[in-house]
This record gives sequence, structure tokens and C-alpha cells, in this order.
Amino acid sequence: MRASLLLLAAASLLLAGAVGAQNDTADSKAGKLSVTGAATVPVVPDVGKVSLTVQTTRPTGAEACDVVAEQAASLTAAVVEAVPDAEVSTVGLSLQQNVTYTNDKQVFNGYMCSNTISIKITDRNATALGTSLGKVNDLAAGQEGSMVTVNGMTTELSPELREEKTNEARTAAVDNGKATAQTLAKAAGVTLGPIRSITDNNFAPSPSPVPMPAMESAAGDAAKQTPTPVSIGATDLTATVALEYAFDN
Ligand SMILES: *[C@@H]1O[C@H](CO)[C@@H](O)[C@H](O)[C@H]1NC(C)=O
Ligand SMILES: *[C@@H]1O[C@H](CO)[C@@H](O)[C@H](O)[C@H]1NC(C)=O
Ligand SMILES: *[C@@H]1O[C@H](CO)[C@@H](O)[C@H](O)[C@H]1NC(C)=O
Repeated sequence: MRASLLLLAAASLLLAGAVGAQNDTADSKAGKLSVTGAATVPVVPDVGKVSLTVQTTRPTGAEACDVVAEQAASLTAAVVEAVPDAEVSTVGLSLQQNVTYTNDKQVFNGYMCSNTISIKITDRNATALGTSLGKVNDLAAGQEGSMVTVNGMTTELSPELREEKTNEARTAAVDNGKATAQTLAKAAGVTLGPIRSITDNNFAPSPSPVPMPAMESAAGDAAKQTPTPVSIGATDLTATVALEYAFDN
């Protein structure tokens, strides 16, 4: 990694005098050294999201949606009781006909109403976050009537954590770039002048899926048992900076 950065930096060691510049200002004639600095910091996500769908089929749409609304409300209440700072929001509500095919014949089974819910939990303590996600998962599994499906869980960084860790990575990336510039200048026998430009780039990890914990208990009494904790792994945040130095001759 470092070797390739050195090569890249060496390749962009420019002597502007060699470029046939029409605009002969002092600056464009001066020698320049361009380097790239990079740093990666590990970060443990502080936001966990669970996506759930409550769905049922009933003879009429109104009936199906009433049952779903009731089930969603009781699940939401149970989640908020178990994890007081959970933020629950409805992602989408849909009503469709439930049609199946038997021997190439279309069978109408009724109306299928579904409500997709997102539960967001923010906690800097990864153990506590994992426990809360486990509680939500267990509650969903323990709902009566098998109307609730856990679509998946993801973790991500809150804007505050992202900013904090990006700044750590930026600082380390600038240090890395400076060290590279000094190495190159020394090897080339030139003295570094002031930094002329700095370009910032950073890549925060996108939301990543969390493996679902194994369901241990039968539906109905899941909520009463010890929740199955979810383990929250660290992820990498990378910052790169491009630095351009003038020579001090
Ligand atoms: C030379 O470049 C500078 C800045 O890049 C510009 O302001 C100036 O007008 C240019 N001069 C000529 C003669 O092109
Ligand atoms: C659609 O109807 C069939 C037959 O009643 C039922 O088994 C199935 O669970 C229904 N599908 C959904 C998604 O509700
Ligand atoms: C994190 O939370 C767990 C309980 O979920 C607690 O035992 C532990 O002390 C907490 N750690 C910190 C550093 O607060």
C-alpha cells in the first residue's frame, strides 16, 4: 500500500519548467510535489436497523388491514417497552389480492394487507446495541399468528460518529501524505516549501447486513427468555488526501 502510494507520488513529481506553459507566472514555473496520503480507521457502528413486515390475508381489504394495524401496534408497543429509545416508523403499507394457482386455475384467496416497519436503535455501546437488536428480533419471532417476518438487520454509522471518525482518518491521512512528501523530497534532494493545495476524499462504510441470530425459542414465549444477542462487528472508514507542495529553493 505504502509502496504504491510512493510510486504514485513519485510519478507526479512535476517540474513545471518542463511544461511549455504559456502563462509564465512565478507560480506556474515553480516546482511542485504532489502526494496522496491515506488512512483507515476501524469503527464500530452505533446504529442498528431492523426491517419487519406484518402481513395477513382476509376476505376483505378492510379486515386484513385492521388485523395488520392491530398487530403492528401491539408489536410497536412491545418493542418500545423492551427498548425505550427505539424509533419505529412505517416504511410502506400495501393491499393486494392474494391469488394462487392450482392446476393452472386462478384461485382468489382474499386480500393481503402488509405493513413494513423499520426500527432504528442508536447506541454507542456495541454490546448494548447488539442486545437491543436481539430483543427486537425475538419479539418479532414471538408474535402470535406468524404474521410478522423479519426482513433483515443492518448496522450503520450515525452522522455524528461518521464525522468524528472521518476527522480521525483525515488527520492520519494528512500525516501519511506529509511523511511521503518528506521521503520523496529527501530522496530527490529538494526542500519542501509550503503546501499549495489539499484535496479531501473519504469513504464511510455503507449500511452492512448483520447475520440474524438463531431462533432458539418457540413462538409465544420468546420475549420471556434471555434475548439472543446480535454481535456488532467493526468496519473500516478510509480517508485520502491529495497534497501539493511547492519547492523551497
Ligand atoms: C496567468 O494565470 C493567472 C492565474 O492563473 C491569471 O490570473 C492571469 O490572467 C494569467 N495571465 C495571462 C497572461 O494569461
Ligand atoms: C395467500 O393465501 C393463501 C391461502 O389462503 C395462504 O396460505 C397464504 O399464506 C396467503 N399469503 C399471504 C402472503 O398472506
Ligand atoms: C455496555 O452495555 C452493557 C450492557 O448492555 C454493560 O454491561 C456495559 O457496562 C456497557 N459498557 C460501557 C462501556 O458502558
